[in-house]
Amino acid sequence: MINKRKVLKNKALLLGVTGGVAAYKSVELVRRLIDGGASVSVIMTEAAQKFVTPLSLEIASLNTVHTDLYSHPMAHITLPAHADFMVIAPATANLIGKFAHGLADDLLSTCLLAFRGKVLIAPSMNWRMYTNPVVQENLASLLSRGVVQVGPEEGRLACGEEGPGRMSEVPDIVAAVESALAKKDLANERILVTAGPTREYIDHVRFISNRSSGKMGYAVARAALRRGADVTLISGSTSLHRPQGVNFIPVETAEDMLRKVREEIPSSTVLVMAAAVADFMPGEKSPGKIAKKYGLLLNLVRTPDILMEISREKRRPFLVGFAAETGEKVGNAKKKLKEKKLDLIVFNDVTEPGAGFDVDTNKVILIDSKEQKKLPLLSKDEVADAILDRITEIKA
Ligand code: PMT
Repeated sequence: MINKRKVLKNKALLLGVTGGVAAYKSVELVRRLIDGGASVSVIMTEAAQKFVTPLSLEIASLNTVHTDLYSHPMAHITLPAHADFMVIAPATANLIGKFAHGLADDLLSTCLLAFRGKVLIAPSMNWRMYTNPVVQENLASLLSRGVVQVGPEEGRLACGEEGPGRMSEVPDIVAAVESALAKKDLANERILVTAGPTREYIDHVRFISNRSSGKMGYAVARAALRRGADVTLISGSTSLHRPQGVNFIPVETAEDMLRKVREEIPSSTVLVMAAAVADFMPGEKSPGKIAKKYGLLLNLVRTPDILMEISREKRRPFLVGFAAETGEKVGNAKKKLKEKKLDLIVFNDVTEPGAGFDVDTNKVILIDSKEQKKLPLLSKDEVADAILDRITEIKA
């Protein structure tokens, strides 16, 4: 049975929106949480309504938006009583201070005191305010009581200044909510994931590469992180959003990737090689830019086979490879499983619609020495969870 782990499914979330410029992102946040299967009730402070209208959030959440402590005398008790989880995004310095000191003078702050479940806050403010010791003390006090914090990020702030204070991006807040709700069955694992393509340079400006977007590997990294693993992501060049909370190592060439994988292997319990490592690289790299007046004949040589190299090591982690095949060549995947001494290989036919390169879905067969599990077309997030499930089953 495939474990289609959708941690947000049927969860009742209470989202508090406070008065910061990042409040506009709360509309998108509500949509993404609902896409994940959650129902969302929104509480807005008076200041939040100056940045975004209750109507926008009502439309996004398909739910009544609550703004007034007195509109319904028991709302501050019934709303939290029906929620599984509370998210405050954006969380201003004022809300953080009130929450840390148990002050309750409006609907959101009273709901926070009445709520018995987990709370996640996404701070958003000017960097001078964020780094003020009193704000830091308030945050430390909340974290010591089990509140989860996501962000803020460093960057250009609404006032034009640079520094820490930007509210995290919506995908990071959603990932943090999922992570806070997920079972931590991988808490003892240190998972090393490779993702994306490698670039093999012909000269200073040109390279050979392939169609990998990195989506499959990033999905494995996110799922492992959500399930409590310590995750290192070694990534070729992609345009993907870097998952918050992973140890991120960017690389370009197959040789770079091998070097970084080697460095990380001693501290890893599992290696998942989802990267599309180029099989060939130019025999020599020209230092400048090769002039285009002549034709160009390339002498290509093999790149190092990273999995093969690691499988020869004495102390090797649990090894998971992918087999990118054109056609139903499951036999090739089995050959790779044996030759590279893998514990598990993930077969994908990259010519199949909805599978392989640069799409959000994949259709895979999980093959190990004992069994072969064919999965239907799933999102890459679901495939990632199925791979991690199989790893835990084999390791058990
Ligand atoms: O990134 P996406 O756009 O989401 O696409 C996902 C994917 C198609 C890239 C992914 O699902 C996938 O199949 N990745 C492996 C691609 C690949 O290189 O397959 P392969 O059959 O050529 O290699 C077999 C295994 O050996 C792979 O785990 C590969 O990472 C590894 N390898 C390959 C070459 C090499 N020099 N060193 C290696 O370690």
